[in-house]
Amino acid sequence: MQLTWLGHSCVLLSGTKKVLIDPFIEGGSVAATSPDIVAVTHGHSDHMGETVSMGRKTIAITEIAKYLKAKGVPVESMNIGGTLVVDGVSFTMTQAVHSTAIEEAGPGFTGGVPAGFVIGMDGVKVYHAGDTALFSDMKLIGELYHPDVALLPIGGRYTMGVAEAMIAANFIGAGTVIPIHYNTWDRIAADPLVLKKAVERTTDLKVQVMQPGETFEILP
Ligand code: NI
Ligand code: MN
Repeated sequence: MQLTWLGHSCVLLSGTKKVLIDPFIEGGSVAATSPDIVAVTHGHSDHMGETVSMGRKTIAITEIAKYLKAKGVPVESMNIGGTLVVDGVSFTMTQAVHSTAIEEAGPGFTGGVPAGFVIGMDGVKVYHAGDTALFSDMKLIGELYHPDVALLPIGGRYTMGVAEAMIAANFIGAGTVIPIHYNTWDRIAADPLVLKKAVERTTDLKVQVMQPGETFEILP
């Protein structure tokens, strides 16, 4: 399976199917990726992004799924703790410690709760944490699902920063950690090399620092 970080929290998984997570990048479009499936972690505009305009089959928490369905988007709804298999790709929705609102709908559209996903395809599992603080049940996500790759926000301010992500990497135990949700704007500035040095000095885990648009091959 190939993993492409398009920028911010947006990641494309390409294997048997093309799965696009959180279809938003700053100042650009990710519509040309033509995914088979879109997965949305929560309603904030830097995650919902182009979900409605792309109109692809979309996986989201029940409340966001209802909103998207009303907009004509084909949806598969689920909720925290559940697993759903769509076109041979498995999606487990995990907790995220954050807030949410369907921002494009205006004030009052809370859109359930924020989430992350463990996505399994072609014998590989990827954990996309969404926007979240560090939480100790990340240990449970590691024990239960054994992800090969963990995509962790490190920008601070709205999510974990580098110091918390070091602990998260240990809790999850995925062999490869990829930092996301940083340096999109000055207010989420972070240095991924600090995380890389600290994690690789103290554990057997690898931190893959990527440039937006770069692709990483994940072997099962
Ligand atoms: Ni958010
Ligand atoms: Mn965000």
